[in-house]
Parts: sequence; C-alpha cells; structure tokens
Amino acid sequence: MSGETSGANRSQQDGMNSLLRLLPFARPYLMQFIVVLILVVIFSATTVLQPYLVKIAIDRDISGSHLNLHGLLMITAIYVVAVLIGVLANYAQIVILQYVGQSIIRKVRMELFAHIERQAMSFFDTNAIGRLVTNVSSDTETISQFFTQFFLSMARDGLLLFMIIFMMFELNVRIALYSMVLIPLIFGISILFRSRLRTAYQTTRTRLSNIVAFLAENLSGMRITQIFHQERRQEMRFDELNRSHRKANIHEYQVSVQFNRVLELLGNAAVAFVVWVGGGEVLHKVILFGTLYAFISYVRQFFTPINSITQQWNTLQSSIVAADRIGRLLATTPAIVDVTTPEEIKDGVGKITFDHVTFAYKVGENVLNDLAFEIQPGSLVGFVGATGAGKSSIMSLLTRFYDVAGGHILLDNVDVRQYRQQDLRRLIGIVQQDVHLFSGTVVDNIRLFRSQVTEEQVIQAAITVGADEFIRKLPNGYQTKILAKGANLSMGQRQLLSFARIAVQNPRVLILDEATASLDSQTELWVQRGLHTLASNRTTLVIAHRLSTVRDADQIIVLDRGRIVEMGTHDGLVLKNGLYRKLYEKSGVESSYALSTNM
Ligand SMILES: Nc1ncnc2c1ncn2[C@@H]1O[C@H](COP(=O)(O)OP(=O)(O)OP(=O)(O)O)[C@@H](O)[C@H]1O
Ligand SMILES: [Mg+2]
Repeated sequence: MSGETSGANRSQQDGMNSLLRLLPFARPYLMQFIVVLILVVIFSATTVLQPYLVKIAIDRDISGSHLNLHGLLMITAIYVVAVLIGVLANYAQIVILQYVGQSIIRKVRMELFAHIERQAMSFFDTNAIGRLVTNVSSDTETISQFFTQFFLSMARDGLLLFMIIFMMFELNVRIALYSMVLIPLIFGISILFRSRLRTAYQTTRTRLSNIVAFLAENLSGMRITQIFHQERRQEMRFDELNRSHRKANIHEYQVSVQFNRVLELLGNAAVAFVVWVGGGEVLHKVILFGTLYAFISYVRQFFTPINSITQQWNTLQSSIVAADRIGRLLATTPAIVDVTTPEEIKDGVGKITFDHVTFAYKVGENVLNDLAFEIQPGSLVGFVGATGAGKSSIMSLLTRFYDVAGGHILLDNVDVRQYRQQDLRRLIGIVQQDVHLFSGTVVDNIRLFRSQVTEEQVIQAAITVGADEFIRKLPNGYQTKILAKGANLSMGQRQLLSFARIAVQNPRVLILDEATASLDSQTELWVQRGLHTLASNRTTLVIAHRLSTVRDADQIIVLDRGRIVEMGTHDGLVLKNGLYRKLYEKSGVESSYALSTNM
C-alpha cells in the first residue's frame, strides 16, 4: 500500500497524462455528458430554490398582518413541483452516467484484453497474472469513476456551492460575509479526514485481499496441507491475517464515525453562529425572520457539496494510479510482431531447418547454442536430454513464442519470422502434457470456439484419435460440460481431447512435449494409438523423457545444456555408448520408479 502511494507521487505527472490520454474513451458520450450537465443545472437550481421559497412563505404570507392563504398555497405548490423536478433530474442524471460509466469500462476492458492477447510469451514471463487481472478488472472501474463521478461532482457541487453563496449575498451581504468564514474551515477539516480515511480504507482493502489470496492458495493446495498435516499451522496463519484485517477495519470505521460526528458538530455550531449573528438583525428588524430561516438552510446545505468535492480528491488520486498502470500496459509494444509483407502460406511438406540457432531468455545467458539440424518432411524426430537442456525452448522458437538471438529457423524453406504468427501456428500443432481445458462443452473444447468447425468435423477428429469411444460414454456425450481445469476427466482423457483439437487443426508439423509421461499403462496404450494416427503423414517432433517413446524415431537429437551432443537413430546412438546410452539406461530405472510411486 505504501509502495502504491509513493509510486503515485513519483509518477503523478505521468499519471495525469495517462488519465488525459484515456479521454478518447469518453468522447463518444459527449451528448450524454451535455444532457447530464443540463440536468445538473436543473437539480442545483431546484435545490437552492427551496429555502428561498420557504423564506417568501414566512416573510410574505405567514408573518404579515394576516395569513395570506392563497399565496401560501401557491408557494407550497411551487415548492412541491421544484422538489419533484429536482428528484427527477437527479435520477435521470444518475442513470445516464451509470450507462456511460459502464460503457467506458466495457471498452477499456476490451482494448486491454486485446492488447494483452497480442503480447509475446516473454511478456507473460515478466507480468504476474494477478496484476494483469487487477488491471483489467478493477483499474478500469476506477477510471470510469473518474469520468463519471469526478466530473459530475465538480460540475454539480461546484455549481451548487456557487449558487448557495450567490443566494446568501442576495439575501444579506453582512451575514453572508460572516458565513464565508465557515468555508475554509469545512474544507480543511474534510481534507484532513479524507486523507486519513483513504489510508485507512486502503489498509483494510490490502488486508482483505491478503485474506482472499491466502484462501485461494490454500484451497487449491488443500491436498498438500492435509498430506503434511499442516491444518493447525495454516489456521494460525489465517487467524493472523484475520486479526490484522479486523484491526484495520475497526480503525477505518472509527475514523469514518469521527469524521461524521465532527461535521455534524460543525454544522450545529454553524447554525448557532448564524442564529447569533442573524438573530440580532431580526430583533432590530434589519432582516425578516424568513431570511434568517433561509440562511440557516443554506449554511446546512453548504456541507454536502464541500464534502463531496473533497471526496473527489481521493477519486482523482486513485484514478491517477489506475490510469498510470493502464497507460503503461497499453504502451508496451508486443516483443514479437509480424513483418509488414508476410509470406503467404503455400503448399508445403513440413521440412524444418535449424541454421546455427542461438537463443537466450535473458541477454547474455544462452539457453541454446549454435543448433544446426534438418528435419525431413514426414519424419519422426525425438529430442532427448536432461531437464533444463533446452528441449521445450526449441519448440517455443519453432512456433515463434520467442525469437532467436542468432541464426535462422526455416519451415519449408521460409524463415518462421516471415510468416504471420497466426499462419505459422496453424501449420504447427502442439500437444503438451498439461492440457488446458476451457469451461464449455466437449465440442467447444475440441473446436476451440471456432464456429466454422462443424460438429461432424469434431466427431470425425475424435474418431481419428480414438477419443470418440470415451466421449460417448460421458453423461451428455459430446455436449457434456467440462468442469474447471477438466476435473471430470482423467489425465488420459484430457490428452485425447487435446489430440482431437490437433486433428481438427490438421497441421503440417506436430510437436509432442512429454505427452506420454505419468499415465497408467492402459491409458498410455490409447494415447499411443491416438498419437500414432496423428503423427502419420506429418513431420513430428517428440520430446520424451521415457526414451522408449522415441525408439522408432527416424532421428534422435541429444541435447546437453543447450548444445547438440549426439544425433542418430536409436540403435546407432546406443552403440556409440555416449550420453544417449546413459540417459537410456537411466530412463528405464526412472520409469519403473515412476510407476510404483504414482498416486
Ligand atoms: N520463460 C523462461 N524464462 C527464463 N528462462 C527460462 C524460461 N523457460 C525456460 N528457461 C530456462 O531455459 C533452460 C531450458 O529450459 P527448457 O524448458 O527448454 O528445458 P527442457 O529441456 O524442456 O527441460 P524439461 O525436460 O525439464 O522440460 C532452463 O535453464 C530454464 O531454466
Ligand atoms: Mg520441457
């Protein structure tokens, strides 16, 4: 929280500029803003008119020599109409602004989401998901508050204050001047309390979000907590968080109550002050009693707009912080962009060439060094090497989630950087061990929400990879809803669904990253069969820890710390008695270990 505040000061100017740069989001609603302004004028006028009407009634109709019933009725009627118009104007203005605010939120959110979608993978390495979620969900709300509440309050409360002061001077300059002493007093006290309230509010919010974060992490890690008997410990940590939240919450409430009481006290004092100053004038018949009444009402009315204006100071502060964050996000240009004249996709066979490729996630720390190899169309190539050797990184380069630091990667004799990213990724299908399923039906997840893919194509794809059989046994077959993270499917079933996705896509090149690890042998058999169908007739790159998977590969590339150390067929490499042979022998031991400890 303190980091947020100091950050706000540092980039106050930047934030203000970012805020102004977001103005175009509000431009389409210029008409609505003008209507709101008119309504605000009407509302303020009726508000200020009310005490004045009462004054007329008192001075003219009631305290004269005889009761002027007709005049009193007239005033009462006008009063009622003024109140009604004021209420209606206020209502309409709130509804319109709400619409405008929500529309702005929607647009900023869409823009942010689209912008995030265009970012390269390196962006997601350095930007925490939680922060992005905050940017898109709550920062946008703060911004919309600025466009609506801030402007509204400045217009409405500024106008109201001006009108009240004007009416007071109209009624009696001397008492009006006395009353002016109050304005800086109310402002000062409000600002003082507002900043205390804001700090207290933010502390409570931070502590509440700590509770939420703790809960989220703990609920998803419940299995680990129970396995290691950590329930008591976690309860204690949770209690700690709750205590600190309670403390912050009570403090916030205290400040808020103090503020209200002080304002009330001040209000009463102000009335007493006006009665004291004005009472004398009434006695000396300088002013009429109705005028005194009007003064008392105006002094009371003073408080609302001043209070509201000081509140906008906080809105402005949080908007600046939010706009700064959003502005920064919108200013990040994607690290990977398409060339201006991309290569069109021609018929191809799926030939892959790595031409002295070097790569680093962080400049100076090479993860891949001078990789040179060629993969023939339609062949099956295995990549093996210890963990961290760079196998997955190779695949990320081929699909251009990152760009090479040196050398070239060619797909069908064209540098992958010359294709549109979209086209390139359509040519390459990737199966990962960790299958991500979206909430939706089985069909949605296979066609990935592309409406041009028909249900027949989906079923055909499922049949091809051998997923049809289990899908039909699900409660609603292809229309079965998939639970969060695919909880109602087994690992193997999720894998088969991901194969069906690829079959629909029908790519030239297939990449399997450790696709067959950690499955029981029966499921693995299905999965192997599905893979076999997928792999036939296309270039296939397989990363496998269990080297039995790549036994039949046309070529095996052995990596060690980002370098190719051996290349050849299984038999050739075993005879060579080098790193591959070592890995192969170790892999046999590891897989039996993995089976016996599988949970
Ligand atoms: N997004 C990333 N940012 C920074 N460094 C990374 C990133 N991804 C991988 N690395 C580093 O690059 C190296 C190669 O990682 P890579 O994932 O390619 O290995 P791998 O061969 O696929 O390993 P495994 O068999 O465990 O999957 C490792 O040292 C790893 O720490
Ligand atoms: Mg890997």
